[in-house]
Amino acid sequence: MVSQEKQKSLYIKTWGCQMNVYDSNRMVDILKPFGYTTTDVPDDADMVILNTCHIREKATDKVFSELGRLRDYKEAKKAKGEKMLLAVAGCVAQAEGEFIAKRAPYVDMVIGTQTYHELPEMIAQALGAYGSNRIINTDFPVEQKFDYLPEEQQDVTPSAFLSIQEGCDKFCTFCVVPYTRGSEYSRTVETILDEAKRLIDAGAKEINVLGQNVNAFHGEDKLGNTWDLGKLLFAIAELPVERIRYTTSHPRDMHDSLYAAHRDLPKLMPWLHLPIQSGSDNILKHMNRKHTADDYKRIIDRLRTDRPDIAFGSDIIVGFPGETEEDFQATMDIVKYTNYSQCYSFKYSARPGTPAANMGGLVAEHIKSERLTRLQTLIREQQASFNKKCEGITMPVLIDRESDTEGRLVGHTEYNQSVIMDGNKRLYGQIIDVAITNGTPNNLVGNIVTTEDKTLKDIKTA
Ligand code: SAH
Ligand code: SF4
Ligand code: F3S
Repeated sequence: MVSQEKQKSLYIKTWGCQMNVYDSNRMVDILKPFGYTTTDVPDDADMVILNTCHIREKATDKVFSELGRLRDYKEAKKAKGEKMLLAVAGCVAQAEGEFIAKRAPYVDMVIGTQTYHELPEMIAQALGAYGSNRIINTDFPVEQKFDYLPEEQQDVTPSAFLSIQEGCDKFCTFCVVPYTRGSEYSRTVETILDEAKRLIDAGAKEINVLGQNVNAFHGEDKLGNTWDLGKLLFAIAELPVERIRYTTSHPRDMHDSLYAAHRDLPKLMPWLHLPIQSGSDNILKHMNRKHTADDYKRIIDRLRTDRPDIAFGSDIIVGFPGETEEDFQATMDIVKYTNYSQCYSFKYSARPGTPAANMGGLVAEHIKSERLTRLQTLIREQQASFNKKCEGITMPVLIDRESDTEGRLVGHTEYNQSVIMDGNKRLYGQIIDVAITNGTPNNLVGNIVTTEDKTLKDIKTA
């Protein structure tokens, strides 16, 4: 039985990838039975959690500047005789736990990426000593947090995340993730399918299957058989869900059943985020990506054969140590070849403790900036042209939020493009047809097609 706890407010700020968003939601779930409900403002919160990202530089600076502000709120609350518990969670906590504890003595808890299922005990401990008991919990425990997480408690969104795999054994030389998240771990097939069913029952129309290396998934079923991601997607597609996506995948882990899923499952969306990082074989080698630009092109070609309407997204790093103008041109070439519909690009940022941080051949900052500008100009042209082609077409759109402007809705297409339109907020969570009137590089604008829309008719007569 859940104890009758006094209501307390919880403010969570989340940086980083979708895995962090998933983790923040799970922390809310864990704390709900203990009387915590979320608030949008930190000023007077009983507990504040900063769920942090360590992927690029300045991450730690951002956390400390946020902590400085929170310290004032904490002091103000203390003056009223109340207590604000302050916690730093996520990848910066994992990587720099001791440093945070030392530099910010007012932080009550440092929670690693694999220990947040122990939050209730940590809170009890922190409160028990009226704040003198500080918790630093950044172990990689033998037991898996997934086995200890409660069932989802909070409102499920129309597009829901489902974490199936975590951690990474790839050790790309620029990346902190293997250190902040630990080694690769796949959940069991049964727990994943149970969670998928609960999400669908609670109203999810789209399931986004998550993992740091999601296509390296190798979960066991009840009989002890190992499933790959392709097989899992076929099983999820049997459930009454409308759309399925997966992210983030690595080119090395594409496998036959995954191609088959793209070919045979209409529910699997025709859009794939498949990071390339660089188009130069030499740089890819130094990044330890263990594939070539040609390997990547073959994957793109095969997916286009299996699913001719597919479009692609990517992540690209410019200015990795040793990158020459010729290497950078190879990156521009592969971007032209793939013709992305969306693509993220970053300047290389040296991360302490990663092998690339000790490599020679540093690229000057102004060259990195200049390359990033050239790359982003190309990407923007590609995005603009992809979105422009949607003008005049009617596309199915999942309505997943209200716009800040009254009477407007925001949704997203099968290709993950944002669409803005006028509409009644009761359409939230529905997939409806939208006639696209305008495609800009960053989003689409359209009108709801009312004539054949049962939902709208229902609403009018309601
Ligand atoms: N697992 C994913 C990437 C996770 S990190 C994959 O393997 O592709 C998200 C993105 O951040 C990466 O794809 C990379 O483009 C970027 N990134 C990671 N480390 C970086 C660094 N040190 N400097 C700049 N960008 C980085
Ligand atoms: Fe980082 Fe590479 Fe693992 Fe992706 S595959 S999380 S880039 S180490
Ligand atoms: Fe950032 Fe950690 Fe995700 S470093 S990108 S929050 S895995």
